[in-house]
Amino acid sequence: MIRLDAVGKTFRGRDGVPVEALRDVSLDVAAGEFVAIVGASGCGKSTLLRMVAGLVAASTGTVALDGEAVAGPRAETAMVFQAPTLLPWADVLRNVTFPLRLMRRAGAGTEEKARALLDVAGLAGFESKLPRELSGGMQQRVAICRALVQEPRVLLADEPFGALDALTREEMSLELLRLWAARRMAVLFVTHSIPEAVLLADRVVVMSPRPGRVADVVEVGLPRPRSFDQEASDEFHRCARRIRDRIFGERAARAA
Ligand SMILES: Nc1ncnc2c1ncn2[C@@H]1O[C@H](COP(=O)(O)OP(=O)(O)O)[C@@H](O)[C@H]1O
Ligand SMILES: [Mg+2]
Repeated sequence: MIRLDAVGKTFRGRDGVPVEALRDVSLDVAAGEFVAIVGASGCGKSTLLRMVAGLVAASTGTVALDGEAVAGPRAETAMVFQAPTLLPWADVLRNVTFPLRLMRRAGAGTEEKARALLDVAGLAGFESKLPRELSGGMQQRVAICRALVQEPRVLLADEPFGALDALTREEMSLELLRLWAARRMAVLFVTHSIPEAVLLADRVVVMSPRPGRVADVVEVGLPRPRSFDQEASDEFHRCARRIRDRIFGERAARAA
């Protein structure tokens, strides 16, 4: 459903010096598939997500959704950023329904859907709280509900748990898997945590340093539903080691 074909992106940097962020990236993501992207900082992960979201245009190659070139933001695509970016003056419920109201897609069932999602996310009873009355983890859960209430067919998550402490992060990743299991949208999930990528994904795309290219794609054979118990399994270690070798192998090659 998502297809990147030989995608490249070169930014005009400061002083007019071009910055090649991505080179020749090809990737197919099937409907309902969970794909994680890992790679060193600056290798173009955010740029890749923004291109799928229609927020940045590719310099070369094509980005398509269901065979149609992505030319701008689309209703079937929702994005979660590293920081929750909630409206500070709106309560939790209105934050969640905001994008649908903005796109004039809010209907009779919208509020009910939002409440159901908040319930799944462990936020029942917090509907009329303001963002500043919530912890960082709760705010990020609101941001995830805000993305999911749009019933996106594509969820783009850019290090969504990056600002959270380790325990909240683990809890949130299982929460996300539960929500994904119920909805089954295609997910592109950027993280710098190798264990998180393996725990969540069907496939892990390993990107090389700038210019970002696909260095490897690792299939994760762990059964679902996933749990932290699986971190002790051979398959988990095999995937994590292969990803780590790929990342550090590339770095060592560059240093030589
Ligand atoms: N709007 C922009 N203008 C110029 N350079 C950019 C822009 N966005 C990203 N870059 C550069 O492209 C490279 C990849 O950035 P990014 O996609 O944010 O990487 P990552 O998310 O993997 O850390 C970096 O070198 C960054 O400085
Ligand atoms: Mg980034």
